[in-house]
Amino acid sequence: MLQDLTSLLLPLLVLPAQASAYPDSLLAPLAEPETRGGPRLSVGKRQTNSSGSSNSTNVTPTPTESDFLWIIQDTYDATNFFQEFHFFNFSDPTHGTVTYVDHDTAFAHNLSYISSDGKIVMKGDDTNWLAQGEYRESVRVSSNTIYNGGLFILDTDRAPWGCGVWPAFWTVGEANWPEGGEIDIIEGVHDNEHNQVTWHTNPGCNLTKSANFTGSIVGSPSPNLDCTGSATKPGCGITEWSQASYGPTFDAVGGGVFAMKWDEDGIAVWSFYRVAVPQDIQDGTPNPANWPTPVAALAPNNCNPAKYFANHSIVFDITFCGDWAGNSYATSGCPGTCSDRLMDPGNFVNASWNINWLKVYRRQTVKGVVSSAAGLHTHTETRSSVLLALAAASFIIPGWLAVI
Ligand SMILES: *[C@@H]1O[C@H](CO)[C@@H](O)[C@H](O)[C@H]1NC(C)=O
Ligand SMILES: *[C@@H]1O[C@H](CO)[C@@H](O)[C@H](O)[C@H]1NC(C)=O
Ligand SMILES: *[C@@H]1O[C@H](CO)[C@@H](O)[C@H](O)[C@H]1NC(C)=O
Ligand SMILES: *[C@@H]1O[C@H](CO)[C@@H](O)[C@H](O)[C@H]1NC(C)=O
Ligand SMILES: *[C@@H]1O[C@H](CO)[C@@H](O)[C@H](O)[C@H]1NC(C)=O
Ligand SMILES: *[C@@H]1O[C@H](CO)[C@@H](O)[C@H](O)[C@H]1NC(C)=O
Ligand SMILES: *[C@@H]1O[C@H](CO)[C@@H](O)[C@H](O)[C@H]1NC(C)=O
Ligand SMILES: *[C@@H]1O[C@H](CO)[C@@H](O)[C@H](O)[C@H]1NC(C)=O
Repeated sequence: MLQDLTSLLLPLLVLPAQASAYPDSLLAPLAEPETRGGPRLSVGKRQTNSSGSSNSTNVTPTPTESDFLWIIQDTYDATNFFQEFHFFNFSDPTHGTVTYVDHDTAFAHNLSYISSDGKIVMKGDDTNWLAQGEYRESVRVSSNTIYNGGLFILDTDRAPWGCGVWPAFWTVGEANWPEGGEIDIIEGVHDNEHNQVTWHTNPGCNLTKSANFTGSIVGSPSPNLDCTGSATKPGCGITEWSQASYGPTFDAVGGGVFAMKWDEDGIAVWSFYRVAVPQDIQDGTPNPANWPTPVAALAPNNCNPAKYFANHSIVFDITFCGDWAGNSYATSGCPGTCSDRLMDPGNFVNASWNINWLKVYRRQTVKGVVSSAAGLHTHTETRSSVLLALAAASFIIPGWLAVI
């Protein structure tokens, strides 16, 4: 069996680049400044104590001169998502005009459910009229599992947007914010069309301007490289150039995939709208080395990822108005005021996540020495994708590789 597996593994390392090119029709370099209320740095979504954190995995990456594979660690989908994420029902640390509801309320009010076609739906209330100043119900959930690195891949058909709406898909440390760091993977306000990736850390972590990424560093008059998060320091952000990375266009093209890689090479984010999702992601054998330049990257030379990021849970939320969507409302081009906007449920029909799956892969060192294939044996999905890769390969060198 060991012999079989080790020979099966080789093709994974030699799969050709498979990322699709972006169709020209969707290319739209970021205009300065972003149209509706951005780009702007948010002040971070401080973690107050949440309930239910339990599973703790430690995949702290270890430097190596060897090759490695990304091996599936956790799959979240319609079958387990709401068992593996817990609801945060405290007041919003970012001062949104929102009531984050608990699990039972979310299900009773249709703010969270699995749709008949198997999507994980989480949304803001779009059925109830509110009085002026009343808070609108919504959801914020965090993963039970805690991570110290990995490749996080989200496939979503829709991400929330709309005037007064401020959603995020992010990861954040358990420690007192910003000690364990925060990585905002999808974030924006109103009907922006350009996603913003942001990091919030303890002082001493900086963006490297010359690193390879396609987005624009946020900051005025000059790009802000300082990732420090505090009441007055907004972290460091990079706005995507693609018009389909957030908001109406992202939803209109059927959504897509976001990937965040966190390892000793730093932290990088890619986004692919639906028709551009790399085949290796669809096949369950992601290899970021084959993808195009990331949209955003925090290079390790000016920010040691092991020092500034630890013990992250994965979070999804949708808030309204508050520190970013509220403070930027007047200049957003949205009608009226944010508090008026909040009253009419019809304004929130697009404030919804429709998620297909979220997968977390861990970095697995592969050396040219046969030792043990333990671990690989337990992952059905890995085995089947290895088999798929084998079917596509024209040659095999038996017994060359092993996973340690
Ligand atoms: C968080 O929990 C710890 C231990 O349970 C407690 O000491 C601390 O006061 C809590 N912090 C907040 C902000 O509730
Ligand atoms: C968390 O731990 C429980 C019990 O060990 C396990 O059943 C569950 O699958 C774990 N969740 C994840 C996401 O690994
Ligand atoms: C959060 O939800 C739990 C479980 O339903 C409930 O006991 C608690 O009172 C809620 N807390 C707040 C602040 O609403
Ligand atoms: C929730 O949705 C279901 C199915 O769409 C519907 O029958 C039910 O009335 C809704 N409940 C609420 C509280 O809106
Ligand atoms: C991360 O978790 C480990 C194990 O619980 C703990 O020793 C460490 O202090 C934590 N670090 C941070 C920054 O949260
Ligand atoms: C950016 O990518 C180019 C081409 O792959 C490489 O030569 C260069 O070293 C990279 N720059 C940084 C800062 O990583
Ligand atoms: C980050 O930037 C600050 C201010 O520009 C500078 O003092 C510090 O040395 C930089 N740190 C690193 C790790 O580059
Ligand atoms: C919701 O999205 C649809 C489709 O893009 C759009 O026509 C409509 O104006 C949006 N509604 C709101 C309130 O944003």
